[in-house]
Amino acid sequence: MKKIKSRGVIFGDMHFPLHDEGAFSCALKVIETVKPNVFINLGDFAEGEMVSHWRWSRRKRPPLEYQLPLIDKEADEVNMHMDRIDYVLDQVGCKKRYLAMGNHDNWYNAFVEENPYLEQYKPENLFKIKERGYKWYPYGEIFKVEGTKLYAYHGGHYNSINHSRTTVQNLGCNIIYGHTHDCQRSVVQHISGVHVAQSMGCLCKIKKDFLKGRKVNWTHNVGVVDFFDDGWFNLITLDIHDGMTTWNNEIIKGEQWA
Ligand SMILES: [Fe+2]
Repeated sequence: MKKIKSRGVIFGDMHFPLHDEGAFSCALKVIETVKPNVFINLGDFAEGEMVSHWRWSRRKRPPLEYQLPLIDKEADEVNMHMDRIDYVLDQVGCKKRYLAMGNHDNWYNAFVEENPYLEQYKPENLFKIKERGYKWYPYGEIFKVEGTKLYAYHGGHYNSINHSRTTVQNLGCNIIYGHTHDCQRSVVQHISGVHVAQSMGCLCKIKKDFLKGRKVNWTHNVGVVDFFDDGWFNLITLDIHDGMTTWNNEIIKGEQWA
């Protein structure tokens, strides 16, 4: 008989400091409640507004002396919220931590390409990813989770409306990803077996300036995954409504963080 070997919690697309505080604090409480021994951060943990190419697309880019304090201020806020994740993971003794860099996180690499003497602004350095205990993967790299039958990456390779179907058809493996900010699942039977692709929703603000009032299909979710000893898994995506979800017949409610 299959046994549960380990349990993971999955966060995606927080976009600190433009996260949704209710959804994020609820997701932290899910960690406290389910006590995982694996944590997967699917990236876009940073918004990266101050290094965004969009920010300067219609304006003349100011000198570095002007940009750096703004970048530092945003990075401080991102680090503060990453600390909150570390704190809860430490509390429950979750030591196996994985992080897939997202496209927003990758904007910091573009900034360092432009300013090659500012290596400290690479996302893995600026946000102390290794120090926090993460095994991390560059933007776009797909990795196998804990030697199981589940793969993960930030997402972004396949962006059709039915992106989970395109993803599972093209990759032919079980995979979780973020990037789309919606929660979608597709299953395909290949000759090699059943495969599922699941986008994991987001934990960021649903209203963003660039949307200019456009309605979106984004949802707040946190993933819980039980891994069996044969490598298979039970992947559950919890819906978070108004900073609230349920687990095991109990309400888990986020709080505003002071
Ligand atoms: Fe994102």
